[in-house]
Amino acid sequence: MQLITTVEEMAARREEWRAAGKTVGLVPTMGYLHQGHLSLAERSRQENDLTVASIFVNPLQFGPKEDFGRYPRDLDRDLKLLESVGVAAVFHPEPSEMYPPGFDASVEVGGITGVLEGAARPGHFKGVTTVVAKLFNIVGARRAYFGQKDAQQVAVLRKMVRDLNFPLQLVVCPTMREPDGLAMSSRNVYLSPEERQAAPALYRALQAAAQLWQERPDERSGPALRAAMENVLAGVPLGKADYVSAADPLTLQEYAGAVPPGQGALLSMAVRFGSTRLIDNMPLEGAG
Ligand code: PAJ
Repeated sequence: MQLITTVEEMAARREEWRAAGKTVGLVPTMGYLHQGHLSLAERSRQENDLTVASIFVNPLQFGPKEDFGRYPRDLDRDLKLLESVGVAAVFHPEPSEMYPPGFDASVEVGGITGVLEGAARPGHFKGVTTVVAKLFNIVGARRAYFGQKDAQQVAVLRKMVRDLNFPLQLVVCPTMREPDGLAMSSRNVYLSPEERQAAPALYRALQAAAQLWQERPDERSGPALRAAMENVLAGVPLGKADYVSAADPLTLQEYAGAVPPGQGALLSMAVRFGSTRLIDNMPLEGAG
């Protein structure tokens, strides 16, 4: 497995692979890897000749009061894990390599970036789309792999790829969970033992709303779905909900009343445990 730290070297490999007719899959990450990240790399390995993973804690997508400085990092462990799943190269640039002095461009998607995570974290998605656009250009992959765990990130990146004609396919992989239902996340290490024990409430809340959706298809409504999730979270005093949402899966606008027949819904939430902010979501199919 190659470790590549400069844009120039990554570009040289890209051109070699292109000349050799190899298909490349890209798995962008911020490191501190868990099985969720590795499932993306495994999927890419099945579908492409070569897989490139990037490890870059992107300063642009963290707010001034967020955890950029203390975001967990363990490069040696990450490299061993990526090698074990057959990744061909890891792109791991310094912030000064991605954002040299004078860097002054950005990529921004409108509309759907103003709600949910975008409303709670101003500028976050502009940072994500800017770095992902750069990674797409630098690596030149045919396919790029992202997790359903970050549902709004996927929706925003889909729009970026479509609106700006990026010549690659975006592949979305299911959320990997701990045995008790907690979605795997690099940020789970921040949780105290008590918070860790309470954290599966997010998944239980999503399941409660999903059950309502299945069992009472005629009564599907935004308020009922949100109430089902809020009821579960209300029983968990350690967690404070930032938002609880039942929204149109394409526009991410909240369903104010009944869900139109045949339409799906995206359930999502952000819950704070102390200073740790956890997110989770569940897409619901209209027909089901
Ligand atoms: P990061 O949080 O490291 O996540 C990297 C990728 O792993 C994302 O596509 C994310 O959705 C996916 N992922 C995280 N937890 C997962 C889980 N439990 N199951 C399945 N997939 C999971 O998301 C980012 O980094 C950054 O915003 C990035 C796209 C790299 C841009 O900086």
